[in-house]
Amino acid sequence: MPEKLNVGVIGAGRIGRLHAEHLAYRVPGVELVAISDIIVSAAEQVAAQFQIPAVYQDHRRIMDDPAIQAVVICSSTDTHSQMIEEAAAAGKQIFCEKPIDYDLGRIDHALAAVKQAGVKLQIGFNRRFDPNFRRVRDVVAAGQIGRPQVLRITSRDPQPPPIAYVKVSGGIFLDMTIHDFDMARFLMGEEVDEVYAAGGVLVDPAIGEAGDVDTALITLRFKSGAMGSIDNSRKAVYGYDQRVEVFGSDGMVTVSNNLPDSAVVSTAQAVTGSLPLFFFVERYTEAYIAEMKAFVEAVVQDTPPPVTGLDGRKPVVMGYAAGKSYRENRPVKLSEVDA
Ligand SMILES: NC(=O)c1ccc[n+]([C@@H]2O[C@H](COP(=O)([O-])OP(=O)(O)OC[C@H]3O[C@@H](n4cnc5c(N)ncnc54)[C@H](O)[C@@H]3O)[C@@H](O)[C@H]2O)c1
Repeated sequence: MPEKLNVGVIGAGRIGRLHAEHLAYRVPGVELVAISDIIVSAAEQVAAQFQIPAVYQDHRRIMDDPAIQAVVICSSTDTHSQMIEEAAAAGKQIFCEKPIDYDLGRIDHALAAVKQAGVKLQIGFNRRFDPNFRRVRDVVAAGQIGRPQVLRITSRDPQPPPIAYVKVSGGIFLDMTIHDFDMARFLMGEEVDEVYAAGGVLVDPAIGEAGDVDTALITLRFKSGAMGSIDNSRKAVYGYDQRVEVFGSDGMVTVSNNLPDSAVVSTAQAVTGSLPLFFFVERYTEAYIAEMKAFVEAVVQDTPPPVTGLDGRKPVVMGYAAGKSYRENRPVKLSEVDA
């Protein structure tokens, strides 16, 4: 292994730009040497901003470069599993954004390719690296609140993504709730057995016309019998709403929203504070940096990545079950969609 890990980023959209910035400036032990995007001007812009030496339209230039040891896949979801297979075949270490794919068959194919190549694969479930949620996980795992009985996750975006994004996203359960499905497993330290999902188009009719819902309420039943709820909206007018609560036999642990400051202004008219941090870029900066540091560390130290391919697969199964539950208006066991 050379002194620094040479990395190439594929996809220069919202998340590609963010990871590129962190790899360029905030993750030690890394040299960000190339970026690609089918819209080459997008890659050129990011490259100019973060001094990335090589820019390509065709991601295979990155795959074919023997000097590049690791790839960070940030292209749209419909390209991920193919990219993973190509990267594995080229012997690259792989970080891939969530979800791996929206087709379980293709996920299994990609995971088999990774296993066969003996390379590492980490999936971009950044919320696991948020210090607040880590603390909740640790408190629950240490038994501080006794036996966990009820999990509540509120996860609302400040604004819907563009309709073009909605169309290739795989739908709200696989695109947005997938983070919450991962959080449910992570925070409770156990697997979900059954989900029951309700959904509606309450924010933007165009999302309904694209075949998706923009508001969802999902209940979870864990293997232990513990229960959970997730509520999602594509539009919370007050900002990114990311709250969590775990209630157990001996207590409760909660996490409220992160604010840009903690000042509270009290006057004769009202007591007011700042709105939550606007969106994922602002809210999870620290978590994105930590997940990338963890990936680099796993590669350099040759240890298992902290979020594995199987961790990437499980929430997709939960998303399938949620979709089926919503369509059939009944609780669905995960075993029904993943024999
Ligand atoms: N972990 C997170 O918090 C998080 C946040 C946002 C997005 N994501 C995930 O990241 C992925 C990208 O999302 P985004 O919001 O950045 O989307 P985006 O549409 O802003 O960017 C995607 C980019 O990929 C490029 N692209 C498409 N096919 C390509 C190819 N074959 N080669 C190279 N580039 C290609 C597009 O031109 C576009 O610039 C999605 O899978 C999404 O689910 C994760």
